[in-house]
Amino acid sequence: MATGRISLTRFLIERQRDKALINADLRLLIETVARACKAISHAVNKGALAGNLGSAGTDNVQGEVQKKLDVLSNEILLEANEWGGNLAALASEEMEDPHPIPTHFPKGEYLLLFDPLDGSSNIDVNVSVGTIFSVLRCPKAASGEGYCEADEKAFLQPGTAQIAAGFAVYGPTTMLVLTVGDGTHGFTLDREMGSFVLTHPDIRIPEDTAEFAINMSNMRRWEAPVKRYIDECLAGKTGPRGKDFNMRWVASMVADVYRIITRGGIFMYPRDDKNKAGRLRLMYEANPMSFIIEQAGGASTDGRGRLMEVKPEGLHQRVAVILGSKNEVERVTAYHKE
Ligand code: F6P
Repeated sequence: MATGRISLTRFLIERQRDKALINADLRLLIETVARACKAISHAVNKGALAGNLGSAGTDNVQGEVQKKLDVLSNEILLEANEWGGNLAALASEEMEDPHPIPTHFPKGEYLLLFDPLDGSSNIDVNVSVGTIFSVLRCPKAASGEGYCEADEKAFLQPGTAQIAAGFAVYGPTTMLVLTVGDGTHGFTLDREMGSFVLTHPDIRIPEDTAEFAINMSNMRRWEAPVKRYIDECLAGKTGPRGKDFNMRWVASMVADVYRIITRGGIFMYPRDDKNKAGRLRLMYEANPMSFIIEQAGGASTDGRGRLMEVKPEGLHQRVAVILGSKNEVERVTAYHKE
């Protein structure tokens, strides 16, 4: 029976065949990541029934306590992506150094970066978490033979060099949000069929909003432009903005960004006098989310300039993030410039 449904596979084949936007290797790569996300979704969903909750008893490269599901999600993504022949190397927020492709597998032209389980402090309290990923091209080797040395340096490309980015959010439904540079599109996981189905084509973020997302407990540490912006929002109808604002903070970037692409809003994790460079990771969180937000008509800055133009200096570099509805992001950036 015809359903008229567009699966992720069909969506990607159309991008490959009709628009020549991606090649077969990149299609396979995105499908493999999506398959890994299904496995992670399943593990998250099983929770305590599979003994998946709680701490793994280890710290990651950031010095944060790893949850069992952080470790498991990282393993699922590594194992799924090692053998396809389309990658030169992988890098994960959970691992200090890039992960080379084992020598017994062929190598390809892409670099995959991921945050295997974003927002993992929310796992044990049953709040949405997710996976974020970004795809870069591995520059050709200086000799012209084969691909780059897939060391840290190869990954240090600005967000503008990304050729695909996406995130999955494991919430009431499992959603995959994806861009390959022609808009931002959302897919819902049909668990019975085991496939992602295009349910939110061409997502557009409203340019204006009256909703902000920020961790208010850091207020005393913020820089003046961010404090001014939030003070003005809090002043409501009788303040300089002349309208009341609402606040939301899930503390899972995937869930906060998903809300913003659905109904607008501004998300901020600014630098402050504790997190002097910012708190979120440029390569695993800020860049892929910025690509997705820009492709949906939103904007993304570090307060001073376009986030995707930041020149990375380290794989685990942190950065200030301000993204979402265009007019509000531009306002905060203007406050920084004043
Ligand atoms: O970087 C991980 C993360 O959990 C993000 O998903 C989220 O936006 C942020 O940290 C929450 O930080 P905090 O616990 O300071 O509110």
